[in-house]
Amino acid sequence: MKKITIVYWSGTGNTEAMANAIADGAREGGNEVKLLSVDKASPSDIEEAEGVALGCPSMGAEVLEESEMEPFVDSIQSVISGKKLALFGSYDWGNGEWMQDWQQRMEGYGANLVDDGLIINLEPDAEGIEKCKSLGAKL
Ligand SMILES: Cc1cc2nc3c(=O)[nH]c(=O)nc-3n(C[C@H](O)[C@H](O)[C@H](O)COP(=O)(O)O)c2cc1C
Repeated sequence: MKKITIVYWSGTGNTEAMANAIADGAREGGNEVKLLSVDKASPSDIEEAEGVALGCPSMGAEVLEESEMEPFVDSIQSVISGKKLALFGSYDWGNGEWMQDWQQRMEGYGANLVDDGLIINLEPDAEGIEKCKSLGAKL
């Protein structure tokens, strides 16, 4: 049984719905899952995990949410190195640039991305939920 930690920020619940489905997918694989909104998470939650998923919607102008998620991501640079990582988040009118930038950044920190960052337009539909579950299973 592997320890999986999922940390997310969500303003209107769309990324939270993705996080819940990723947790379901990881649990179905028999893993121990810790699911935390970013205000409840600390770098030690990342350090203790074998697999990590981080979720944040596209905010500002194609950036991470700046008051909580951005500082958290910055704070885990050393502990995320060498770990399996999945990124996910919801967006609306953009083209996914925030996720491409985030992915490159995490690769720069030495994380091993299990897949390309999963982006879903607004609220995940049934197909989106299945994609999230598969990502959780990959971890
Ligand atoms: C302040 C703010 C800035 C946003 N900036 C972007 C953006 O740059 N690109 C984009 O595609 N969507 C943008 N969005 C839309 C959100 O990414 C979208 O509504 C998403 O579904 C929110 O996810 P959540 O329900 O997890 O908070 C923005 C939304 C807000 C409130």
